[in-house]
Amino acid sequence: MCGIVGYVGREDAAPFLIEGLRRLEYRGYDSAGIAVSTENGIVVRKSKGRLSALEEKIRGDHMISGNVGIGHTRWATHGEPSDVNAHPQPSASGRFVVVHNGVIDNYLELKNHLIRRGYEFASETDTEVIAHLIERYYNGDMVDALNKLQTRLKGSYSLGVLSADNPGQIAVIRKDSPLILGERGDEKMLASDIPAMLKFTRDFYELGEGEIAILSREGIAFYDSDKEALSKSTFHVDWDMDAAEKGGYEHFMIKEIMEQPRAISDTITPRLDGDKVLFGDFNLTAEDIAGFDKIYITACGSAYHAGIIGKYVIQSLTRKSVDVELASEFRYGDPIISEKTLVIVVSQSGETADSLAALRYAKAKGARVLGVVNVVGSSIAKEADVTLFTNAGPEIAVATTKAYSCQLIIFYLLAVYMAEKIGSVAETERRRLLEEIKALPGKVAKILENKDDVQRFAALHFNARDVFFIGRGMDYGAGLEGSLKLKEISYIHSEAYAAGELKHGTIALIERDSLVVAIAANRRLFDKLISNVMVVKARGACVCGVTWEGNKVIEESCDFALYVPETEDLFAPSLSVITLQLFSYYVASMRGADIDKPRNLAKSVTIE
Ligand code: M6R
Repeated sequence: MCGIVGYVGREDAAPFLIEGLRRLEYRGYDSAGIAVSTENGIVVRKSKGRLSALEEKIRGDHMISGNVGIGHTRWATHGEPSDVNAHPQPSASGRFVVVHNGVIDNYLELKNHLIRRGYEFASETDTEVIAHLIERYYNGDMVDALNKLQTRLKGSYSLGVLSADNPGQIAVIRKDSPLILGERGDEKMLASDIPAMLKFTRDFYELGEGEIAILSREGIAFYDSDKEALSKSTFHVDWDMDAAEKGGYEHFMIKEIMEQPRAISDTITPRLDGDKVLFGDFNLTAEDIAGFDKIYITACGSAYHAGIIGKYVIQSLTRKSVDVELASEFRYGDPIISEKTLVIVVSQSGETADSLAALRYAKAKGARVLGVVNVVGSSIAKEADVTLFTNAGPEIAVATTKAYSCQLIIFYLLAVYMAEKIGSVAETERRRLLEEIKALPGKVAKILENKDDVQRFAALHFNARDVFFIGRGMDYGAGLEGSLKLKEISYIHSEAYAAGELKHGTIALIERDSLVVAIAANRRLFDKLISNVMVVKARGACVCGVTWEGNKVIEESCDFALYVPETEDLFAPSLSVITLQLFSYYVASMRGADIDKPRNLAKSVTIE
């Protein structure tokens, strides 16, 4: 996500901040800024775009000279990339200035609370709420102010705070978003990630959940949420810069796979208020939904696969007819579109040329267009009538993992939201579905804890020539994504088939030891799928079943079984796909493939 740095010492802070931010550029960002405590108060400089634009802005700027400062690279979540939305964010008087990583789930409620008390907001960010609250709570003691602040904030945050009253200090606090600190003599630094500080030190303090630290030339003082002083020891890393950027993982892809519980949770929580789904920005009425003559989902690659799952869920919960179309084909199929049609365009990058063309086509025909996008400020996000953002954070690996998972979440929430509006599911059932959605991050984390099981299976089959993924219903949708993951990063030929379709041709390809991955996470269709498994087994295939925990019956028909936690059938793809991502990753890694940058592929496909 975003990057944070801070410096306290004897040197000019700005060059340290810029150097630290440069080391965090790999995380992706769309704007940058720094704030320095100077003789004339806190001076803030920010710029949309690359770090070089900020450097250009501060070149020869003598106002920004001082030995204490904070800096930030922003990946937009609330409000598009712009100078005003960039961090640091000042409080109303400018006495407090904040950099923030994470997402404040209840920021709207807090913002409205502050507006009612006369506060004016300059930016669209959730972070500005924090700056105003600190000013409101500050009573001469920053630790007290931050402790009070954390009783009000819901969500994830790591914060660096400058205060004009204490110009020699930086205050920091964190929850569910990492922050590390280090020292070199009387110089102190903080950062959201190790690469920013590797040139400074290799020994780091980790700030714990809810803990506060005050950095000054005299030292780093740590406090718990009761204001008790804490003593901490450092941890040491020997990583080189490359390993550090990947958080110690070998590839960005596995780092991003491991980030999924956080990404999914960051996508769910801002959209929930108790047992209500919040889509204030979409604001559909029951009449709007009932009036849709058609819902189309259009996208490319993995986003299209997410759309296939989206179709099942929306159709099942709302009983509205949904079609999924490849964006590259959408406008050539002469789709029937009117002003009563809803077209959902799904894209991680928000820049995919085919998806953008489909969006423009749909708009020109009068449809209402909803974007489901990860990159705020991207073309699709701007051109859609409304955009729901997947808060996956920047995705570096070409093979998408966490963005796809977050797209599924938006579809689940959208389906529940629409169903509530039109009353197509009973209230108790709707609540049960939301509880299941809320439990998904924990269940994904559990699969990741057991990733060695998948690695063992990959070790047996990384030399496979072909892999067939089979499933029925939504399991087939998950299989499509698993197959794409495998072929794009391992270069193994792979296909996904609706299991019932095999007998109509593809089964001719099955021979002794052909590898078949049978996704059997859908209870309703389990028996039917097992019949298809028996058919490929009879032709000598080696079959791995992916099913829910405790479903030992799978071991009677498959050669290998991989288990995922139990969930509602509709949401099972969110779990089975994690196993398939891990399988692809391990196979590709064992084959020595260039996992993060597979041949012939680009992260953002901007040609039609
Ligand atoms: O940025 P988008 O989501 O619009 O990209 C769509 C596809 O290009 C993308 O999902 C592609 O298939 C990935 N490489 C899959 O991992």
